[in-house]
Amino acid sequence: MANVSLLIHDLGAAVTPAGTGPLRGREFGELRVHSPATIALSGDRIVAIGSPEEVLREIPTGATFESVDGRGTVALPGLIDCHTHPAFLGDRAAEFELRASGAGYEEIHASGGGIWSTVAATRAGSEEEIRAAVERHLGWMLEHGTTTAEAKSGYGLDRETELKSLRAIRAAGESSPVDVYPTFLGAHTVPPEFEGAAGYVEFVIQDVLPEVAPLARFADVFLERGSFEAPEAGLYLRACRERGLVPRLHADQFSQRGAIPLAVELGARSVDHLETTGEEGARLLAKSDVAAVLLPACGLFLDLPLPPARLLADEGAIVAMATDFNPGSSFCESLPLVMNLACTRLGLSPAEALCACTANAAHVLGLQDLGRLAPGYRADVLLLDAPDWRHLAYHLGGDRFAARIKSGRVL
Ligand code: NIG
Ligand code: FE
Repeated sequence: MANVSLLIHDLGAAVTPAGTGPLRGREFGELRVHSPATIALSGDRIVAIGSPEEVLREIPTGATFESVDGRGTVALPGLIDCHTHPAFLGDRAAEFELRASGAGYEEIHASGGGIWSTVAATRAGSEEEIRAAVERHLGWMLEHGTTTAEAKSGYGLDRETELKSLRAIRAAGESSPVDVYPTFLGAHTVPPEFEGAAGYVEFVIQDVLPEVAPLARFADVFLERGSFEAPEAGLYLRACRERGLVPRLHADQFSQRGAIPLAVELGARSVDHLETTGEEGARLLAKSDVAAVLLPACGLFLDLPLPPARLLADEGAIVAMATDFNPGSSFCESLPLVMNLACTRLGLSPAEALCACTANAAHVLGLQDLGRLAPGYRADVLLLDAPDWRHLAYHLGGDRFAARIKSGRVL
């Protein structure tokens, strides 16, 4: 066995999604439970996991390493938030209050508030201010157990601010313990200086995409009435794909307008939201390799109908879940809360919720060595301070961690 650098010993249990790759169909929700358990790490990798006797037997006598006492805790893989919008300045507390007195999210957007108000605040800030904001938001996520996150731009919507946002995301990822995978959300909404979506998309493709493409891994679009329709979304995503970005879509949140067929045709990595998706869409997804990313905190925040989670899972779609952290429709950075909503509102089991926020979220981000506790995987480990791993979902906002270990380092 490789040199052990850290031993997490005498855990009450270690719980992980089983198998490899994304878990779908019958395999969705399959776990491996080691109880009691010890985990040996070497640098940033897991090298052994099993019963304390098994693991200790493999370590050469006389070897020296740091150790963490796992008694009374349960080890779980670090959580992966595969859909977040942390690159913004300002807030939407006033809009939240308006909505509390009955105003609708789409109505506020149509009257020039909403996403556009955050774009105005973000454009007015410096790159350093955006970087500091992203770093603060990543810190909040880490408190709730997120050790890897996707991060979208999309509150710039001009060349300068989209570039600043993506550079800020990269810099924040370097200074934060949370690993960050950036997404260019150039097609979030049409900024007011443009007449229509077609002209704006043409501008993005010609003037913004060439410079931002090297800074991002994914491209995303808000395919929705009042933002972008399928033809423009297709044009934008194809251009992004030619530059090496992997397509993803905000799909079927308020209305169905062809997002799922487009995603399947493009070979997109995921369609996210799906609050209005029907049986046909769910079946189409299940037959494809496009993942369904459900965002129940956003549904709660905006009081939307629920996505057909059970149908998607039963039909065999790849189901992942995320917070959709953003200032307007989901000011929530807690994946344990999302897991609770999965169980209380979406009809998923705690085990399915765990798979959706670990192994399947890793798949959405294209990461093969993340989202499980198994030899060869990156050593991102949470020690839950609870007698049973299900407390992560059962305890509303259940993020009582005794330790967070990122890439083999105790934080
Ligand atoms: O995923 N729907 C578009 N984008 C975000 C909301 C952005 C905002 O309201 O600022 C979402 O819900
Ligand atoms: Fe979103």
